[in-house]
Amino acid sequence: MKRYEKLVEDLSRLISEGVLRPGDRMPSVRELRRTKKLSPGTILEAYGVLEDQGIIEARTRSGYYVRARGLGPLSTPEPRTPRARSLQVDVSELVFGVLSAMRERTLMPFGSAFPSPELFPFKSLSQAFASAARFLDPWKTVYDLSPGSLELRKQIARLYLKSGCTVRPDEIVITCGAMEALNLSLQTTTRPGDTVAVESPAFYAALQVIQAQGLRAVEVATDPVDGMNLSALERALTRYPIKACWLMTTFQNPLGSLMSDAKKRELVRLLARHEVPLIEDDVYPELYLEGVRPSPAKRFDDKGLVLHCSSFSKSLAPGFRIGWVAPGRFAQRVQQRQFTNTIAPSVPAQLAVVEYLKHGGYERHLRQLRRALAAQQASMQQAIRRYFPESTRVTRPSGGYFLWLELPGNVDSLALYQRAMEANISVSPGPMFAAQRGFQNCVRLNYGHPWSPAAEQAIRKLARLTEELA
Ligand SMILES: Cc1ncc(COP(=O)(O)O)c(C=O)c1O
Repeated sequence: MKRYEKLVEDLSRLISEGVLRPGDRMPSVRELRRTKKLSPGTILEAYGVLEDQGIIEARTRSGYYVRARGLGPLSTPEPRTPRARSLQVDVSELVFGVLSAMRERTLMPFGSAFPSPELFPFKSLSQAFASAARFLDPWKTVYDLSPGSLELRKQIARLYLKSGCTVRPDEIVITCGAMEALNLSLQTTTRPGDTVAVESPAFYAALQVIQAQGLRAVEVATDPVDGMNLSALERALTRYPIKACWLMTTFQNPLGSLMSDAKKRELVRLLARHEVPLIEDDVYPELYLEGVRPSPAKRFDDKGLVLHCSSFSKSLAPGFRIGWVAPGRFAQRVQQRQFTNTIAPSVPAQLAVVEYLKHGGYERHLRQLRRALAAQQASMQQAIRRYFPESTRVTRPSGGYFLWLELPGNVDSLALYQRAMEANISVSPGPMFAAQRGFQNCVRLNYGHPWSPAAEQAIRKLARLTEELA
């Protein structure tokens, strides 16, 4: 056991045995240095761990204190097991209603689907755009239509290499955001009336697309920590004529769950045994807040059955609408479909992204973005712990920008949404993430915006509304 771990253990015991009580000041670094003969670094590391665990809190210029409620971290939500059935999806109206209300700039944007645009390098991007437009070879507006700029596809192939995945430029189709990539993938692998396996809870746009394309959904239990339950998926595969599986293996929206590499491999093998294509929605891999960039399940695909969909919308250039799909054996069909959908995304926007990736400092920007998101997640977690009822459960994702909360009792998240909107606070209520209005007592909160006293007050207000509704 390392020295700081031993200190964490000793101090935790003092707190749990009531020697140090809620509100008590923790021993100062100087005191521990003298009595325990430890270095300041070791002591601060131990205090950092206790703070992360929600056992103590730092107060500016005053040191560390045992948290007022003496709470450990709030628990993670339990995975839920939806009744396996093939459902018609009924979510669009609810989603449109909630999303259109969120455009208001004066709202506290906890319900937003996007991180703050202020976290992105628009100045460098506009320089890249100007430079790309100035030197644009007019013939590129023809050559760089579907499957997209070769330069950009080469850059994307390089990004794949970083996550241990070999995808050649000619296997990539550039799309109008990940949304077009996902739509094309679903159109290519299914026909109206078919059944698609999705997570439970699922990204609402997956449910909307399934609804719009006249498909049915089988919702598969998904763990808030490590993603879709593969035994449940296997049962669904044997029971229903599933034609495609749409899921997120990395920082799932809304849960933030992350599958291990071993589980991703197992998922790819399982689907390959059933000859079912995997539509992998992977828009957040750059937003890891610890460790290294996670690999996509595509890395383990040797049958060309994974259609890997991603974009720059969440990592670099929101609004540029540049995404892509690596569709494996479906490449030609995807490309043909794209011609009847959008023909291709904007060529100047593609070339601006190429220019930025070559000269703009992408890695530095990503480091700053991750740092900001990690700090914002910690602030939101802390505020939730401080104000929400003790029986609230909340996820601790290692990437992305969403927290998923399970509210105590039978708090109706749609009622909470209404009351919160009256107080100018948006949230995404749980029923947006289920084919037929499940997750009634859950909400998704976005921590992708700079933290502020107003955000703290908004969490406090949400907590009060939750208590009133409980
Ligand atoms: C999980 C998920 N997938 C796909 C998309 C669509 O990405 P894009 O904006 O690149 O079309 C989003 C955007 O909100 C998302 O959150």
